Amino acid sequence: MDKIVLSNISKSYSGIPAVRTLTLNIREGEFLTLLGPSGCGKTTTLRMIAGLEDTDSGEITVGDQIFFSQSKGLYVPPEKRDLGFIFQSYALWPHMTVRKNISLGLEEKKIDKDKIEKTVINALKKVQLEGLEDRYPSELSGGQQQRVAVARMVASEPQIFLMDEPLSNLDAMLRIGMRAELKHLHHELGATTVYVTHDQNEALTLSDRIVVMESGELRQIGTPEEIYKKSADLFVAKFVGSPQINILKGRTVIDNDEFFFISGTIKKKVSIPSEYMNMDLTVTIRPEEIKIKNEKESNWLECDVYSVLPAGSETIIAVKKDGMDLTLKINGFADYKIDDKVWIDFNQDQMNYYDLETAKLLF
Ligand SMILES: Nc1ncnc2c1ncn2[C@@H]1O[C@H](COP(=O)(O)OP(=O)(O)OP(=O)(O)O)[C@@H](O)[C@H]1O
Ligand SMILES: [Mg+2]
Repeated sequence: MDKIVLSNISKSYSGIPAVRTLTLNIREGEFLTLLGPSGCGKTTTLRMIAGLEDTDSGEITVGDQIFFSQSKGLYVPPEKRDLGFIFQSYALWPHMTVRKNISLGLEEKKIDKDKIEKTVINALKKVQLEGLEDRYPSELSGGQQQRVAVARMVASEPQIFLMDEPLSNLDAMLRIGMRAELKHLHHELGATTVYVTHDQNEALTLSDRIVVMESGELRQIGTPEEIYKKSADLFVAKFVGSPQINILKGRTVIDNDEFFFISGTIKKKVSIPSEYMNMDLTVTIRPEEIKIKNEKESNWLECDVYSVLPAGSETIIAVKKDGMDLTLKINGFADYKIDDKVWIDFNQDQMNYYDLETAKLLF
């Protein structure tokens, strides 16, 4: 069942579009992430759902309530939308204790004192901050402050959680820890969540589904696996995944009744639909989908090792073949050295084919 429906919503600032006729259905209980580069319209979209930003056109529905409709002339102000919001900055009140920061919103709702105290303690338990209710924000680490912001959102029991880059000002270790916390919390509460990040790794880690945006437009919506393995266009393919996906321009040809993809001096036998034969197109292959050996293997491609970057759990290897660069990723440490001769092969069923002109996925 859909919880949030955005129908053709648009927003411009002084005539410059920030979000262009975006249509999106977000399911009840889903963790949906808006992912895209800086300025693509993620925050604007979130703020329109929250009512913190005026929407120019289209319709926004949450549950059975219309929050905004241009055609029907409807608009519900933010305070009547019953939404929880976490901004990029923690936005805790510095002169109030943790308890007060969390209880303030509940006091405004005229809930009785005992119930508020219980709710505060419960919310702090959920983010593992029990016992810190009398501290001031300045007496907490960045990660703890961010947890208080999460606790505050949880305590007010909104119908939807909206989070705008909530982890971006935490250091790398804390960020990874907080991801696990957020994911566990979502599992526990099952609240419909719209999450904004420009970090593809964070999006892949947390989400049930991801919306990739660019220049105010939706490029692809899908599960993390769909987005990663079947990127709808080259923009998505390049934006998601680290190290970046390999991209080869080339042509499909038939040789002795066999199908090949040719790119420079690379000639790779492939099994693809015959309607895509004799076509110029672009092929992508993820770094971990290229096999490598230090012995000659028939039909594998001979290359020179350009660099080897071990990182403990994985090693990134760059190879060159007649001026063409390819990046590979293998598990653990590698036995390869710069200038070694190696033989590589693409994992055929993980090659994706894109239209040369539109950059859209063909198959
Ligand atoms: N108040 C504003 N006035 C004018 N232009 C704005 C305003 N807010 C946003 N914009 C513009 O709208 C576009 C979308 O901005 P938005 O903040 O939604 O991007 P974003 O995807 O959240 O980016 P980031 O990852 O940097 O936070 C940008 O080009 C931005 O400059
Ligand atoms: Mg933003």
